[in-house]
Amino acid sequence: MKKTGILLLVCALILGMAGTVVAKEVLRVGSDVAFPPFEYVDENTHEYTGFDMDMVRALAEEMGMEVEIYNVAWEGIIPGLLNGNYDLIASAMTITEERKMSVNFSDPYFNAEQVILVRINDDTIHGPDDLKGKAVAVQLGTTGDFVASDLPGLKKVARFAVVGEAIQELMNGNVAAVICDNLVAISYIQENPGKAKIVPGSFFPPEYYGFAINKNNPELLKKVNAALAELKANGTYDKIYNKWFGTN
Ligand code: ARG
Repeated sequence: MKKTGILLLVCALILGMAGTVVAKEVLRVGSDVAFPPFEYVDENTHEYTGFDMDMVRALAEEMGMEVEIYNVAWEGIIPGLLNGNYDLIASAMTITEERKMSVNFSDPYFNAEQVILVRINDDTIHGPDDLKGKAVAVQLGTTGDFVASDLPGLKKVARFAVVGEAIQELMNGNVAAVICDNLVAISYIQENPGKAKIVPGSFFPPEYYGFAINKNNPELLKKVNAALAELKANGTYDKIYNKWFGTN
């Protein structure tokens, strides 16, 4: 009798444990994994890596969830969220009024700004005014695209699916400058010394990255904001920040 009781208890425990493991919810994350140092594919391990990737893994852990990352094209990244292909976008996405009309954003998790990247030997471009009559490359549908499109008198805005292609176009001499997120430009310069430089100065409005979540999922938005606050309070955010950007 006693033995059977213990056996039953053990069985119940094992089943219970298996139950919780199976029940662990999955956080499906969409990202354009071609935006170093925020999200990119590690050449050696072929894993998705970068600041945002560490952030979503930490967020998921904090929320008791498992994370699954979907590498998707930037151009379709919001439609994919709206379509339910994933639950959250972690893609260095700037919080904008226009995007807020279609998605919810988490609290801001990173400050950024657009910069003008030019070839290392350029001595003609000192600010946006000097781009008049010149061609500028951007990643299609990014805030870099938006500010470039607003600049008067450009010869053209060349739009590319991924930011790396825009930078390649600059290196090939086909455009005079790239307008992109500051830390992406800095990362390119660090990885490719002696090729490009950032035009000194602050010419464009400050930007804040947020995680985008479907408006039909306010529970997840709440959970993400709570987890984000906890990561900031318990030092995890600083740890991840310092890993990618040095001490802050
Ligand atoms: N911050 C810019 C924006 O939101 C560029 C983000 C691009 N991110 C990416 N993973 N390609 O428009």
